[in-house]
Amino acid sequence: MDKIVVLDFGSQYSHLICRRIRDFSVYAELVPYDISLDELNKLNPKGIIFSGGPSSVFNSDAPMPTKEIFQMQIPILGICYGHQIIVNNFGGKVKRANKEYGSAILSIDDKSDILSEVGDSIRAWMSHGDEAKNVPKDFEIIGHTENAHAAAIANKQRTVYGIQFHPEVMHTENGTNILKNFVLKVCHANQDWTMEAFIENTVENISKLEGNVLCGVSGGIDSTVAALLIQKAIGDRLKCVFVDNGLLRLDEAKEIEVMFAKNFKVNFTKIDGKKQFLSKLKGVVDPEEKRKVIGEEFVRVFTDFAKDNGPFVWLAQGTLYPDVIESGVSKGPADVIKTHHNVGGLPDWLHLKVLEPLRELYKDEVRNIAKILDVPENLLIRHPFPGPGLAVRIIGEVTKKKLDITRIASNIVEEELQNAELYDKVWQAYAAVGDDKAVGVVGDERKYGNIVMVRIVDSIDAMTADWTRLPNELIEKISNRITNEIDEVTWVSYVVSSKPPATIEPQ
Ligand code: XMP
Repeated sequence: MDKIVVLDFGSQYSHLICRRIRDFSVYAELVPYDISLDELNKLNPKGIIFSGGPSSVFNSDAPMPTKEIFQMQIPILGICYGHQIIVNNFGGKVKRANKEYGSAILSIDDKSDILSEVGDSIRAWMSHGDEAKNVPKDFEIIGHTENAHAAAIANKQRTVYGIQFHPEVMHTENGTNILKNFVLKVCHANQDWTMEAFIENTVENISKLEGNVLCGVSGGIDSTVAALLIQKAIGDRLKCVFVDNGLLRLDEAKEIEVMFAKNFKVNFTKIDGKKQFLSKLKGVVDPEEKRKVIGEEFVRVFTDFAKDNGPFVWLAQGTLYPDVIESGVSKGPADVIKTHHNVGGLPDWLHLKVLEPLRELYKDEVRNIAKILDVPENLLIRHPFPGPGLAVRIIGEVTKKKLDITRIASNIVEEELQNAELYDKVWQAYAAVGDDKAVGVVGDERKYGNIVMVRIVDSIDAMTADWTRLPNELIEKISNRITNEIDEVTWVSYVVSSKPPATIEPQ
């Protein structure tokens, strides 16, 4: 499969470059900027892109790619900071300039190459400090803006390009065409990144593994798809464990058990850990401590299961590409199968190798695979749910009473969104509860009850999120139902904080 490698110099947009390229069916992968020549050669890229980044080439510790990259005779496109690296490396001159953020009009001087089929001029998104002053020898200017006379440069013979703006962000008009021109016309990459091909390759790779695989399934789309792929490859050598930790949504445990029994032929065991998890969480108030307690308890359950049902060699997880990027463990040559330990907080003594068949994929790509594998529609559209479950939607200690409140209130939120045909238009929607109380009046009686916080957000990838502007009537309906149907609740609030500065979950 043809591959474009994106060297990450730290721009917040780096992973978007991969995203856009994958959208036109070419595989693109983000790797650290200091990847060694050896590792890069192993990836065998058809083209290399230098991302933008916050640094300046004038800094003594400015991140630079290995010099040999320029001898590889592979097409290179530098974006923003990457553009300055190219100017600098090929003997041009970068100068310090006033910081320029936002849109600028890029006039196209040469419509024959990577700036073909974008028009005479486009609005382009700028976010930079330095800029190219003198263009290196053998390079020509192919686009300029009012402030930057060399906003796009090319050495066509050597197939090296530099652009000062960000083609990967939506604010750049026809930005995808520019990436397409580079990837398809300059790098001549084949558009062979399809989910069918991914499934075939992954199943083939996994079928070569020796030993049994233990896969923790949560009922969410990621672990379900991971399990189905592994099952396709090794059949009964896969054992799936689903832990009901008492922190799931209303009726969720039963629904998941039924879904697996009805739809999939996987080896499935449900473990009832409700009492065990809740007793471990008793008195735990700190959010990070909660996550730690829950993580450790999961490991304990898996270890006990492995002892009684093993031996197992592999522990499978539904880790996705954004998780890999976000946790900073983007490793360069991302094989489908990883053998390193301790990913996701697994202790070394577990002695299981980690199998993460989805670690190259974005969420929507996993959804596409799920469709191909006939995963039921209701799972496809279900909102993401955090691993530590309702524990991170309960502020303060996790108690049975607070669990019941968040469970029922969240169910009301989901039902009302479904009734209004808005459920699949929002990213996540739930109700959180803490220890704060407020006075209410029911009938003629004073009541001192809990406050519930309804949180509904729009997002594309959970990295940022905005609160959903719901019709007032719908908020009113949700609020009325929550106070009417849950005795303990007197007040309902609607959370209007975006991420950042807030996060999606309160804990
Ligand atoms: P935050 O709260 O950080 O959440 O804005 C971003 C996205 O991640 C989910 N989330 C988790 N998912 N384990 C998970 O599997 C976790 O510990 C966890 N914490 C948050 C959250 O629901 C949102 O979609």
